[in-house]
Amino acid sequence: MNIIDIINKKRVGLELNKEELEYAFNGYLKGIVKDYQMSSLLMAICIKGMSEKETFDLVDIFIKSGDVLDLSSIPGIKVDKHSTGGIGDKITLIIAPIVAACGVVVPKMSGRGLGYTGGTIDKLESIKGFNVSLTEEEFINALKTIKLAVTGQTANLCPMDKAIYALRDVTGTTSSIPLIASSIMSKKIAGGADKILIDIKCGNGALMENMDDALKLREIMEKIGEYYGKETICEISDMNTPLGSNIGNSLEVIEAMDVLHGKKGELTDLAIKIATEMIKVSKDITVEEAKNEVIFAINSGNAFKKFLEFVKNQGGDINSLVVSTNIETVKATSAGEVKKINALNIGKLSCSLGAGRINKEDTIDYSVGIVLNKLVGDKVNIGDTLFTMYKKQSEVNPLNINPDDYYEIK
Ligand code: URA
Repeated sequence: MNIIDIINKKRVGLELNKEELEYAFNGYLKGIVKDYQMSSLLMAICIKGMSEKETFDLVDIFIKSGDVLDLSSIPGIKVDKHSTGGIGDKITLIIAPIVAACGVVVPKMSGRGLGYTGGTIDKLESIKGFNVSLTEEEFINALKTIKLAVTGQTANLCPMDKAIYALRDVTGTTSSIPLIASSIMSKKIAGGADKILIDIKCGNGALMENMDDALKLREIMEKIGEYYGKETICEISDMNTPLGSNIGNSLEVIEAMDVLHGKKGELTDLAIKIATEMIKVSKDITVEEAKNEVIFAINSGNAFKKFLEFVKNQGGDINSLVVSTNIETVKATSAGEVKKINALNIGKLSCSLGAGRINKEDTIDYSVGIVLNKLVGDKVNIGDTLFTMYKKQSEVNPLNINPDDYYEIK
């Protein structure tokens, strides 16, 4: 067997068998298959797709690249949540402490930014000292003591996803249904939760740009979950507009804390909806009962306390968050009401400010990003600030931003 034949087979749209997939993917992890060869195979998969059998085989290969956690020593139902990623999507940082504050164990395996979408692990790393590579023992101990732990893929947990994910991020191979399904479901299954809630983002700022693809992704992820005996519930939510007002790593952690402190809006509504669903399936109670628990966790301050406990437990110093002081505002050149904010363009801009990666080796600047000063539905006068860019401290030149590329005002 050789990797070039495998790439060519996929290039012409043929189905790869399990041995070929193992040869390519396990070979990549061992360093036998090179970055450029795997990039080429991933692109062929993006363009030609994969059959259901290939996708199931790939999930199996991803899972078997590391350990599968056994959380049976922790009492109660364990529920994990994952988003397919969007612009300004900091929902995990909000719902994980809410759900844990309601007494449900949340074992969470997250990823870094992918394409223009941010990732929970990068956001958590904006907190100085925060450990995103927990050992299995640390992960289980945290779940036993505070009911909440978030870890990235490690040498033991889904190492295949760690390697492939980093390559997809910088090779334009993020938007493939089988690759997304394998990446997410392998992490969820290895993470050991009993129930899985997936928030599939759909829109121009998401990996799934249209409803047809979002539905296909939902179908395959639910089938994979069922096969592994994990109840998997997929919600589809809009990602044509950024979620909330802050985009960028430290800025998103700050907004997540604002929501836990009671900030209202669309972001809060979605967080409440997802947390409610997680509590409902875990405790087998009605939606109303679950929602009451969620609202109580926020209003009582218990969810925020849980967030602080979680940050401390993983070594983070919440007072260490840095936001750049090098700011530039973008002003409205027309008056009216904000009809749309282009999530994709805002995501690209945030990435170009330094909040995401273009090359595998790039380091993220956690202090940069964007704050939307006007949201959809807001009234705007000429000269009002639409959004504020937090640029790298070293950036001296003004960025010539055309507001019409980001905001539709009528
Ligand atoms: N989140 C993941 O973990 N993997 C993907 O491929 C997309 C979103």
